[in-house]
Formats: sequence, structure tokens, C-alpha cells
Amino acid sequence: MTRLTGTIHVPGDKSISHRALILGALAKGTTQISNLQVGEDVESTKRALKNLGVQIETSGSDVLVHGQGLNSFEAPESPIDCSNSGTTMRLFMGLLAAQNFNSMLIGDESLQARPMNRVATPLRKMGAHINLRDANYAPIEISGSLLGPINYEVPVASAQVKSAIMLAALGCQGFTKLSGLIHSRDHTERMLELFGASISTTNDTIELSGKQMLKPCKFEVPGDPSAAAFWVTAACLLPNSDILIPNVSLNPTRTGFIDVLREMGANIDIEVTSSEPEPAGKIRTCSSKLSAVSIDEAQVPRLIDEIPILAIAMSQAEGVSQIRGAGELRVKESDRLIAIANNLGAMGVDLELFDDGFRIPGPAKLKAAKIQTDDDHRIAMAFTIAGLLTHKPNNTTLDNSSCVQISYPAFFETLRGALS
Ligand code: S3P
Repeated sequence: MTRLTGTIHVPGDKSISHRALILGALAKGTTQISNLQVGEDVESTKRALKNLGVQIETSGSDVLVHGQGLNSFEAPESPIDCSNSGTTMRLFMGLLAAQNFNSMLIGDESLQARPMNRVATPLRKMGAHINLRDANYAPIEISGSLLGPINYEVPVASAQVKSAIMLAALGCQGFTKLSGLIHSRDHTERMLELFGASISTTNDTIELSGKQMLKPCKFEVPGDPSAAAFWVTAACLLPNSDILIPNVSLNPTRTGFIDVLREMGANIDIEVTSSEPEPAGKIRTCSSKLSAVSIDEAQVPRLIDEIPILAIAMSQAEGVSQIRGAGELRVKESDRLIAIANNLGAMGVDLELFDDGFRIPGPAKLKAAKIQTDDDHRIAMAFTIAGLLTHKPNNTTLDNSSCVQISYPAFFETLRGALS
């Protein structure tokens, strides 16, 4: 069987990259970003900002954003195409609702099937005029209006919802207060502070006043923990592996997968080496014998994007693993619960599917299969790792391998470099 060794560099964090571009555009002056993610989703955000007249200079993963301030956007001449990117669409709903012009957001087939009312509802309470297809979906028509602040209990643990409200709040006079399910990834809160905004966060609330002037920044985007998760899990599962991943974001709202793998018995060491713009550091992982784990709803927001690869880990662990409270997976780039169930099923795993999760008995001997990715990047990458665990790794095929371009264009090249 193959193994993974050496130092693996992961691309810049996708969530931080979107926010760096958007906050850079809202600041007055030039923001200098290095190690920006170069995947298609972040490209969608860049293109959307350019549609609004923002000047962005790109040289590989180094980017200059020439921000003109909060109310400097130009009305777009055509609909803004968010392609496959849910983060672009939802964050731009908040950004555009507070502008004084009309706009329209469109996306690809997968994005047009994802729920948008969760963002429109709080924005409408702020006074936004938003029209959704069938009351929940893109295309989205936004008539720019004068917004007012809200006091809102967030009903879904989604950083995209929380961030859209914060971006709208920046565009209106007064204090916006968020409570409820606010414990999703906190990059917007941290980065607003970095850009000089005054924002107050406690365990229960986020408070932000509008019409603040953002200051341009200079910073390096730390590596993406969601990309690192594929290598960390693969190194646990492939015998005789030993890898080091430097410069990864270790933001606690993103490292739930490390906690879960460690609970399963994984041999993972982390060392925090920097704290700006967020805690970041090294992850070292060696092959490990894993035992079963149970993940509940409260843990899900800290590992939401890592569930496909954690399912592969569960299939190799001793005992019955389970995850519940993960119904959000049904409205990601694909219905990830179905994609995990069908593909693990095709590889010979006896998975039991629930509305909001699954149960997996392990360890299972995986057999090569034809993987249906549903054009979902995280399904493609998770099942590429699963394929390595079979007797004939080359016999596992993906129906679409190019979807990794969404978040990790160098995924296959990196895999080839680390396998021995
Ligand atoms: C993201 C938030 C999460 C995550 C997505 C990126 C973000 O979505 O799944 O990949 O950058 O805010 P939700 O906010 O819908 O949970």
C-alpha cells in the first residue's frame, strides 16, 4: 500500500480569501493580500467585485485590492455570476442590499438549488428589498435600499448568514446585534477587527455599528484547514505515513476535525506559530490506528466541510461511528449525505443513512468503485483518498475530477508529490 510523507503545502484558506477581498474593497486605500486562494470560488468573488467597479491587481496568489470606501461601488451592468460559490452569493446579498442601486445575483445549477431565504429573511428585517425565485432560490433580485440595524437571533449555525448580516450592518447607521447560533467560523468578526472596525463579540452576542471607515491592511492568508484535512486523514489511514503541513489556519472554529481524529486515536501534533490575521501553525500527522467516534449537532459547525473525509476515516475505524445533527450537509454543493452514502456503499461499506447524518460500522475493506462526485469538490477529494485505501488504487475513478478546481486546483499534483 502507498504512504504519504514529507512536507505538504496547502493553498490559502478559502473563507478568509473571500473576506479579505470583500473587506479590502470596502476599506479606503490599498489592501495587500498574499497567499490568496486561487480556486474558482474565490475567483467568483474577485469577478463580482470587479463588476462593481473595484480595481484588483493579481499576480499569482498576491493581490492588491484598491478599495474606495463603503459606498463606492458602481451599479453592475449585468447580473453578477457567483457560479458555484455559496459564500460569494450569500455575502454579496448583504453587501448589495445596502447599496443605492439594483442588482441581480445568479449561479450555476448547484448554487441555484441552495437555500437563500435564510439570508433574505434577516436582510428584509433590516429593510432590504430582495426577490427570490420560488421564495428561496437564485436568481436573486436586489433593489438597493436604505437599511436599518437589527437585533437578530440567528436560527441556523451558518457563517455565511452571519457574515451577510454583518456586511449589511456596515452599510447602515446604528448598532446591529446578533445572538443565537453564532458559533460558526468567525473569520468575518476577526477580519473586521483587523480592518480597524470596532466590533464586540462575547460568547452569546456580536455587536457591530454601521458606517465605520475600514482601514486597508497587509496580510498573508494562512493555509486552508479544510484542504489540510484530506492529507491529515490520509496520513492517519495509510500505514507508515508521516507528514508535516506548515502555515495552516488553526482558528478554533475550524479545527473540529483535528479534535475528532484525535478522539479516534490519531497521532496528530499541532504547533501555533503565528497569530495574525488568525492563529496558524504546523500540523504533523503519522499513521494511526483509529477507533469509532460519535459526533453530535453541537460539534458540527466546527467541522462542517470535513464530514466527507471524516466519513472515510470512520469507515476504517474499529467499531460503529455515527454523526447526527448534520442535516446542513443536504444543502451544500451537493446533497453530501447522499453522496457519502452512495459512494461508500459502492465501495462496500454498510452505511445507515439518517435525515441528518449516518452510522458507519468499521473497519471496512474498501473496494475500488466508480465515484459519482455530483460535481462536488469535497466529495471528489474525499473519495480520491478513499481510493488509495483499496487494493487497486488505480481502479477507483471519479466521474468529474475537474471539480477540485473550486477550492484546490493543485490537489492531484500535491497528492502525486506526497505519495511514495
Ligand atoms: C463558509 C461557511 C460554511 C462552509 C462554506 C464556507 C464561509 O457554510 O460550509 O464552505 O466561508 O462562510 P455555512 O455558512 O452555510 O455553514
